[in-house]
Amino acid sequence: MESQEIPKSEVIEQVYEWIYSLGALRAGLELRVWEKIAAGVDTAEKIAAQEGWNLAGVRVLLDTICALKLLTRNGERYSLVPESAYYLIPGKPTYKGGIVQHEINWEGNGKLAEAIRSGVRPVVYDATTADVVGLWIADYSRRWVYPEAYFDIDNKLWQSLEIQAQEGLRVLDLACGPAPISMALARLNPGVCITWLDWEDVLQTALKVAVGLGIANQVVLMPGDLWSVDLGSDAFDVAYLGNVTHFFSPEENTRLFRKVYSALARGGCIVVDSVVRRESAFTDTVALWLYAATATGGAYDFAEYRTMLENAGFANVRDFDQGPIKAVKP
Ligand SMILES: C[S@@+](CC[C@H](N)C(=O)[O-])C[C@H]1O[C@@H](n2cnc3c(N)ncnc32)[C@H](O)[C@@H]1O
Repeated sequence: MESQEIPKSEVIEQVYEWIYSLGALRAGLELRVWEKIAAGVDTAEKIAAQEGWNLAGVRVLLDTICALKLLTRNGERYSLVPESAYYLIPGKPTYKGGIVQHEINWEGNGKLAEAIRSGVRPVVYDATTADVVGLWIADYSRRWVYPEAYFDIDNKLWQSLEIQAQEGLRVLDLACGPAPISMALARLNPGVCITWLDWEDVLQTALKVAVGLGIANQVVLMPGDLWSVDLGSDAFDVAYLGNVTHFFSPEENTRLFRKVYSALARGGCIVVDSVVRRESAFTDTVALWLYAATATGGAYDFAEYRTMLENAGFANVRDFDQGPIKAVKP
């Protein structure tokens, strides 16, 4: 091969940058550098002197974090950027440092390869269990603190799905997390009743938000494992399943959709809003995370979801603007 035919190694160099950036982030979080700078200990000299740390090490770490745009530097002084002020100060309700530290080890420092060889997964933790509720609570920190920020987008979603906030509408938000989507609907009409299913801690966190918004009286809680909680029959007009069906296999989803089918009134609809594989060259890294963090999950395409929904009895399966999938109980 002629030397000019050898491709440049920019992509590989980019990978080095990711690797080094992760190291900087991990060390910065462990050493709580943002907290110190926020408290006015804002030069490398001051931090090193206060903590008894190596000055050259502190300086190079802070400068690397500046390159990551999570600090800025003016002369010798470092200051926070808005993202580090909100998300990287321990104790703030929007703190995400814990989940970042947790997720840095998402593939168990090399265990993913073994899981790919053997097919035995999840690798480090199972995202479908109650053990990881802390993950979801931390991941959605902005939604808990600023729910209003999402309502416009969520209202548009309901409009595009042709679902109106009618008096008496009964909505099941299954694996609701911070439940912004169903909250948006409830805010439009005090006659809308929303039922939330998720793990107890998640529901209690969401309930505090609903109290703050003055809609708690419209909320019914169904805590527990979605596989064992009884959804009843003929109990809902709409079932919204946001970002949860990609945690399960097609067979499990079909079982879940059957359960939802029974819970819906005739003419009611299910909305599946998940990671959907859209093109032949699907490049979403979340699919790999799903492989590692669930026992059976994956990113399915529209045709696969249609089969699962139809096997559960649903009809008129539609793909809305390449977004959520809606189907009707005939
Ligand atoms: C990725 S979050 C999605 C939250 C929300 N629906 C959304 O779209 O923003 C997944 C949610 O599913 C919940 N979940 C996962 N497995 C569950 C299970 N077996 N039983 C109940 N909730 C579960 C998690 O607690 C988490 O809140």
